[in-house]
Amino acid sequence: MGRRGRLVLKIFAWAVCLAPLAALAWWIGRALWLHTDDLGANPISFITNHLGDWTFRLLLASLAMTPLRIVFGWGWPLLLRRLLGLFAFTYAVLHFSVWILVDHFFNWGQMAEDVVKRPYITVGMLALLTLIPLALTSTTGMIKRLGARRWTRLHRLVYLTGVLAALHFLWLAKVGRTDQYIYVAVLAALLGVRVVEWARRLVRRAGKIPPPRPATPP
Ligand code: HEM
Repeated sequence: MGRRGRLVLKIFAWAVCLAPLAALAWWIGRALWLHTDDLGANPISFITNHLGDWTFRLLLASLAMTPLRIVFGWGWPLLLRRLLGLFAFTYAVLHFSVWILVDHFFNWGQMAEDVVKRPYITVGMLALLTLIPLALTSTTGMIKRLGARRWTRLHRLVYLTGVLAALHFLWLAKVGRTDQYIYVAVLAALLGVRVVEWARRLVRRAGKIPPPRPATPP
């Protein structure tokens, strides 16, 4: 892909990642000034859920880039992996900030109680914590400093983030709801492609190792 193609791709990705924030700002503005009910009966819950949904979607999108390369042989998805991951982190921080600021307004005791007592909050918190080292080491400088091997090993943490995010959603989803299973199925497929690729590589590597020599008779 040429320089222009890469630029267009990045601009498109930025627009897609920022659109949910722009939509949210638009709905909040309309609700405040025009008294519309764009935010529904429970605006705080609406905002938290909107940000949570987009955190998970962008996390899945960033996890989809490597499988796209594996399955179709495309190179361009890798150009977007870091951008999508960093946007997932940004949405996670915003999602978490609403919980701190609006749900609990810095009541640390109440927050700690929430983290301990509600399993979906515990795993949500863990998911956010796993994203922090990934975001901090996402720069080219950090990749160089850590070395490609250690960096790759560290960034496998994102698979755990995916699993924790799935548990968070499964745990909090209300009875009668089914969309959480779609997210879980997508995550399973994305991790599954990696497992298959890893197994294939292992088999290929094993094929290259010469078979053990037959024991020589004494
Ligand atoms: C990577 C991290 C996280 C992801 C991917 C994530 C994702 C989600 C998703 C998908 C939802 C449900 C949205 C819906 O119902 O449509 C949600 C709801 C929620 N999340 Fe998270 N979350 C994360 C971290 C956190 C953290 C750290 C907290 C707070 C400590 C948190 C608190 C909540 C709460 C309170 C709700 C329910 C809101 C309501 O029903 O009113 N989440 N999250």
